[in-house]
Amino acid sequence: MSVFLPEARTTFAANYPEVPHILRHALGQHPLLELDALAALAEGLPEASIEYNYADLPIGIEGKPDATGIPIGETIRSIGTCGSWAALKNIEQHPAYAALLDELLTEIRPEIETRTGRMMKTQGFIIITSPGGVTPYHFDPEHNILLQVRGSKVMTQFPAGNAAYAPDEVHESYHTGGPRELKWRDELVEGGREFPLAAGEALFVPVMAPHFVRNGPESSVSLSITWRSEWSYAEADARAFNAMLRRIGIRPPATARWPHRNLAKAYGWRMLRKLGVG
Ligand SMILES: [Fe+2]
Repeated sequence: MSVFLPEARTTFAANYPEVPHILRHALGQHPLLELDALAALAEGLPEASIEYNYADLPIGIEGKPDATGIPIGETIRSIGTCGSWAALKNIEQHPAYAALLDELLTEIRPEIETRTGRMMKTQGFIIITSPGGVTPYHFDPEHNILLQVRGSKVMTQFPAGNAAYAPDEVHESYHTGGPRELKWRDELVEGGREFPLAAGEALFVPVMAPHFVRNGPESSVSLSITWRSEWSYAEADARAFNAMLRRIGIRPPATARWPHRNLAKAYGWRMLRKLGVG
């Protein structure tokens, strides 16, 4: 059975890779995404693949939020009441979840590859959130479709590639192994666009588009299916090239977004890396 029906695939093809949009999905209440199954998955994943903390957070935070001290399995089983946020990373480490991720991405692979080249580094994430929880302002390096499986949330997205929301220096530091702390200021909210998401809906998030998320009044489970592409790697490498230029005192023009491919700077960076300079 298809999770993305023809209508969803048409919408995706018309908007990928730059325009955020809502898609219907037919994943339903998948047995692998029930709380007990997720608690068991989390307990079997390496510690580095699990992140969890209090969910009662402001939109902008400095550093990592406080730990709850509640073990991950218990956090997930009691997500309705424990006031937590949990992310399970690289769920493809578990064969059943790897198969699910592969099944979903295979459905839309043709639409992806005709635009941004080969689909690479596919990764799945599951986010489990208590009622009213907040995921603070940040960006991610993947092309991402977030499928809402249970409960609801509102993601506020900001334009990708606009330095007002994520300064070029932050992109450059991130792509050269540094931190990716995005500073929040309340006046930024005016440039955001809210995407309410209910179970059965999915939201496409363009690469590096800053966002924050407010969970709805019930606990929620979301599945994030992500991939990289020839295009996204070129942008990342061009950012790294710019970081090098900035280090030697040049103020480089920012990388360009789709449909520009940033190939000259990306090849420049790859050559420097080969020479051991980058
Ligand atoms: Fe995110």
